[in-house]
Parts: sequence; structure tokens; C-alpha cells
Amino acid sequence: MRNLEFLLPLLFSFYLTEVYSSSCLNTTYQNLNIFGNDLSNALGSSSQCCSLCLAASGCVAWSWDNTTGGTCWLKSDTQPLGRQNGTTSGLLSPSVNQTYTLNKYFRASNWFNNSYWHWDLWALTNVTKDVSQATAQSLGMINTNNGKVYMGVDMVNKYPNGTRPSIQIQSLFLYNSGLFILSLDHMPAGGGSWPAWWFTGGNWPYDGEIDVLESIWAQDYNQMGIIVGDTCLQNYNDSNYMTGEWYDKSVGVTSPYYSCDKFASNATAREGCTVLGAHGTFNDKFNAAGGGAYAMQWVRDKYIRIWNFVKPNVPADILNESPNPNPDTWGLPAAHYTLGPNCSPDNFQNHTMMFDIALCGAGWAGNVFPGGEGACENMVQNHPENMTETYWLINYVKVFNRPGEPQGVYNSTCQFGC
Ligand SMILES: *[C@@H]1O[C@H](CO)[C@@H](O)[C@H](O)[C@H]1NC(C)=O
Ligand SMILES: *[C@@H]1O[C@H](CO)[C@@H](O)[C@H](O)[C@H]1NC(C)=O
Ligand SMILES: *[C@@H]1O[C@H](CO)[C@@H](O)[C@H](O)[C@H]1NC(C)=O
Ligand SMILES: *[C@@H]1O[C@H](CO)[C@@H](O)[C@H](O)[C@H]1NC(C)=O
Ligand SMILES: *[C@@H]1O[C@H](CO)[C@@H](O)[C@H](O)[C@H]1NC(C)=O
Ligand SMILES: *[C@@H]1O[C@H](CO)[C@@H](O)[C@H](O)[C@H]1NC(C)=O
Ligand SMILES: *[C@@H]1O[C@H](CO)[C@@H](O)[C@H](O)[C@H]1NC(C)=O
Ligand SMILES: *[C@@H]1O[C@H](CO)[C@@H](O)[C@H](O)[C@H]1NC(C)=O
Ligand SMILES: *[C@@H]1O[C@H](CO)[C@@H](O)[C@H](O)[C@H]1NC(C)=O
Ligand SMILES: *[C@@H]1O[C@H](CO)[C@@H](O)[C@H](O)[C@H]1NC(C)=O
Ligand SMILES: *[C@@H]1O[C@H](CO)[C@@H](O)[C@H](O)[C@H]1NC(C)=O
Ligand SMILES: *[C@@H]1O[C@H](CO)[C@@H](O)[C@H](O)[C@H]1NC(C)=O
Repeated sequence: MRNLEFLLPLLFSFYLTEVYSSSCLNTTYQNLNIFGNDLSNALGSSSQCCSLCLAASGCVAWSWDNTTGGTCWLKSDTQPLGRQNGTTSGLLSPSVNQTYTLNKYFRASNWFNNSYWHWDLWALTNVTKDVSQATAQSLGMINTNNGKVYMGVDMVNKYPNGTRPSIQIQSLFLYNSGLFILSLDHMPAGGGSWPAWWFTGGNWPYDGEIDVLESIWAQDYNQMGIIVGDTCLQNYNDSNYMTGEWYDKSVGVTSPYYSCDKFASNATAREGCTVLGAHGTFNDKFNAAGGGAYAMQWVRDKYIRIWNFVKPNVPADILNESPNPNPDTWGLPAAHYTLGPNCSPDNFQNHTMMFDIALCGAGWAGNVFPGGEGACENMVQNHPENMTETYWLINYVKVFNRPGEPQGVYNSTCQFGC
């Protein structure tokens, strides 16, 4: 019999084009506006805006305010969403070509597949030594018990005057855009820890860095960031598009821009453009809540947005593992970075996805330790009983793409710091 499977994509696209139609989403935002991107406007109450949008060609969202007694502003884009008192905004269901679908699903059943990650052998700090997968296995630092991915430091042995085994892995899939969702029950905490889930190009910092989850044992909030090696300015006013706060907002009042260039003469203590997340999004408080989900949406020519969700405040489409999660329904992100004329998308090239756990470090996690870096190092070397919270427990990482968006490219060569 002839194989007719080749017809399926054709039938599927026919189905999508012919049967698909937009509808009004329930998500409406009070005191948030979609700035610019006006197609047209019409007088009406806010409850009429969605029908007006459905009837207007190219309309994907609307904002309403009391102009002329009540006006619906019909929008060609769902972004940028930002604070504006007195304005209500709403969305249509995304069109087919704006809908995210699953590209890659990293989970317990395939996580430790040797072909997915490169295991780095770095000495991240004076007392951290990243080990191979085989060593991590033999020291009981990794497993997939209960269908979850466990990756932790050695919690058993003492390493007097030495380095404690830890992990750093980089994906052999390389990304230039996409929607990345990390669902986790526990992140590394305690024990002088400094964990991160981050993205970086091979030629750091010229190929860019995106820190989605990163902070230290002493803080209960996430610290997001981007770092590049060329011009990249973020408008401080873009704080309107996010719930987090610019780390640097009090610095350099002469300029309305924050430079993310590592080499900028005015780069400050935390190099790059750092955004502080909300209290409770990190460390013991996150773990005590049972974890949650972190997400990063990278729309190549427009923006990088990051959300930090703590249980029970995880959006339904993440909780229910929707095949088509829609970040536009998640409200303001914790961090929003604008890409475009002031920060070229080309600052970010072929990013590998990294997980690591550093211990101490005079730059940050160590010098805030009681007694300083030296005391932190002594604790890490000699007190494995104080390292029992220093592990990842991950349900999955899912990578989604929109139609036409380049997917992750597999490259078996280690990219970063090899
Ligand atoms: C939207 O709201 C309607 C009416 O309140 C409800 O029946 C429906 O289930 C909601 N849809 C979603 C996706 O929440
Ligand atoms: C909105 O109103 C609140 C007080 O109701 C005020 O604190 C806030 O600054 C206003 N926001 C904007 C963007 O005007
Ligand atoms: C229109 O809304 C603005 C912002 O909320 C408010 O300051 C103003 O009083 C409103 N005007 C009318 C006529 O309701
Ligand atoms: C698909 O997306 C492009 C831009 O991203 C837009 O111009 C076009 O109208 C979209 N098509 C549909 C059917 O929504
Ligand atoms: C491991 O990766 C290879 C290459 O991508 C793939 O062919 C294989 O199915 C994977 N194995 C598992 C268990 O996922
Ligand atoms: C650790 O180093 C200190 C000073 O460098 C030394 O006095 C001590 O004997 C060393 N301990 C071990 C167990 O090697
Ligand atoms: C254990 O580590 C925490 C920081 O992660 C620190 O505050 C505490 O003092 C350490 N306890 C001991 C016994 O070293
Ligand atoms: C930032 O917002 C203020 C107040 O609206 C405005 O005066 C200023 O021009 C804005 N700066 C930039 C760089 O957009
Ligand atoms: C930092 O320097 C860049 C030029 O390198 C400038 O555009 C930016 O406005 C400066 N930012 C501050 C806070 O001074
Ligand atoms: C990524 O790598 C490929 C192959 O090495 C290269 O052609 C491409 O320009 C790089 N950057 C992007 C954004 O794809
Ligand atoms: C390593 O230890 C030395 C000596 O205590 C200290 O000066 C240095 O800052 C430490 N390095 C790091 C990365 O913490
Ligand atoms: C894989 O990555 C290496 C190192 O960055 C690069 O030289 C090579 O061109 C890449 N291969 C492909 C097929 O893109």
C-alpha cells in the first residue's frame, strides 16, 4: 500500500487555515495598556472592545480608556503591555502563526541521555569542582527517582582543603529564540550556594548571556540579567513593562539608559543589566512553597521576557501542561528586555542552555557569608551535613516555538568554555 503520510501535513495546514478562527480570551488586564500598535479606534464600552477587535482585520488585542466617554483602541500586537491607570486591555486567542508548539521536552526519561548535554569540568569557585556525568552518578549526585530529574552537590564526603563535587551542564541544542519553561519542585539552596539556569553563546560576552534563574543562598529573590559585549541600552522607563526592578536604577541619573555592555565605562558592580525579582521567588521560600516554574520568552527581534512563578501562582496553561502555552496571558513579566535599535538582537547568538551550582565565591555568595569567603569555603569543605538543600529537582524543561521560528539546532561540539 502506498504510504499516504505525506498528505497529513497538507491536510493539517488546510484544517488550520480553514477552520481556525479567533475568539476572545477571558484574560483582561486592569490598569495595563498595550502601547502603540494602533490599527484603529472606535467608541464603545470595554465589554464591546473584543467584538470590535474580532471584526477588524489584523486586530489581535485591544485597550480601552475613557477617551471621548469610552474608546476601544484596536491593536495589531499584544505587546508591549505596561502600566497605565484607567486603561483595560484584552486579547484574542493567538492566530495560528503566533501559537507556540512543543519543540523539545527534557525530562527524567531522557535528561541524562549523553547526547543532550555537555558535562563541564570547571572549577567554578575555590571550593567547587564540576564533575563528569559518570562521577556524579558514582557519587550519588544525580538520579531520576520518582520521575524527576535530581542534580545536586556531593552531600556525603568531606573535602578538607579541596573542592566539593558539583555539576554544570550545557545543552548541545543551540537557541536563537523560543519559549523556555522550567518546571521545578526545588532549586539549590543553603550551603553557600549560587545556582543558575542560564543561556550563553560560545564567544562570551560577545554572543550574549541571559540569566533566567540566578541568585545566592542569602537572598530570597531571583536576580535576572543580560550581558553582552557591544552596544545594548535598556530604557529605565521599561520598568513599566515588568514587575521587577532595575538593579541599577539609582545609578547614573544623568542617563535614561542602562548599558548591558560588559565593557561600558559606566558598567557597575553587577555587570550587565540586572533586574531584581520579587521576594519569595528564590531559595528556601521557593522550595518551601513546593517550587513552581520559571519561563523565558525570547522573541528575536522584539524582546526577552522572564517570569518567576511560585506555587500556587503558576498559570493554568503551565500547570495543565497545555500543548500551546500563551505567555501573553501571564501578565507582566518579572523582567522585560527590549531588543531592537538600542540593543541589537545580534548581541545574542546560538545560546546553549546551562544549569550549574557554584559554592561560595568571593564575588558574591562567599563575601556575604558570616566570616566571609574563607569561612564559607571551610563550611563547604568540611560540613557536608550543611549541603542537604543544595540540589535541583526538576519536572521538565520544555522548549516551544512559533511557526516559522528557528528551532534549537543540535551541535555535538561543546560551545562555551570548553
Ligand atoms: C471564560 O469565561 C467563561 C465565562 O465565565 C467560562 O465559561 C470559560 O470556561 C472561561 N474560559 C477559560 C478558558 O477560562
Ligand atoms: C496608578 O495609581 C496608583 C495609585 O492608585 C499610583 O500609585 C501609581 O503610581 C499609578 N501608576 C501610574 C503608572 O500612573
Ligand atoms: C478618565 O480616566 C483618567 C485616568 O483614569 C481619569 O484621570 C479621568 O478623571 C477620567 N475622566 C473621566 C471623564 O472619567
Ligand atoms: C503571521 O505573522 C505575520 C507577522 O509575524 C503577520 O504579518 C501575518 O498577518 C500573520 N498571519 C496570520 C494569518 O495571522
Ligand atoms: C537520546 O538522544 C538521541 C539523539 O538525539 C536519540 O536518538 C535517542 O532517542 C535519545 N534517547 C532517549 C532515551 O531519549
Ligand atoms: C589545610 O591547609 C592548612 C593551611 O594551608 C594546613 O595547615 C592543614 O594541614 C591542611 N589540612 C589538610 C587536611 O590538608
Ligand atoms: C550552613 O550554610 C548556611 C548558608 O547557606 C550558613 O548560613 C550556615 O552558617 C552554615 N552552617 C554551618 C554549620 O556551617
Ligand atoms: C521616560 O519617561 C519620562 C516620563 O514619562 C519621560 O519624560 C522621558 O522622556 C522618558 N525617557 C525615555 C528615554 O524614554
Ligand atoms: C552608560 O554609557 C553608555 C555609553 O557607553 C550611555 O549610552 C549610557 O547612557 C550610560 N548610562 C549611564 C547610567 O550613565
Ligand atoms: C549560529 O550558528 C550558525 C552556524 O554556526 C551561524 O550560521 C549563525 O549565523 C549563528 N547565529 C544565528 C543567530 O543563527
Ligand atoms: C579564592 O581564595 C582566595 C584566597 O582566599 C581569594 O582571594 C579569592 O577571591 C577566592 N576566589 C574566589 C573565586 O572566590
Ligand atoms: C558547531 O559548533 C562549532 C563550535 O562553535 C562550530 O565551529 C560549528 O560550525 C558548528 N557546526 C554547525 C553545523 O553549525
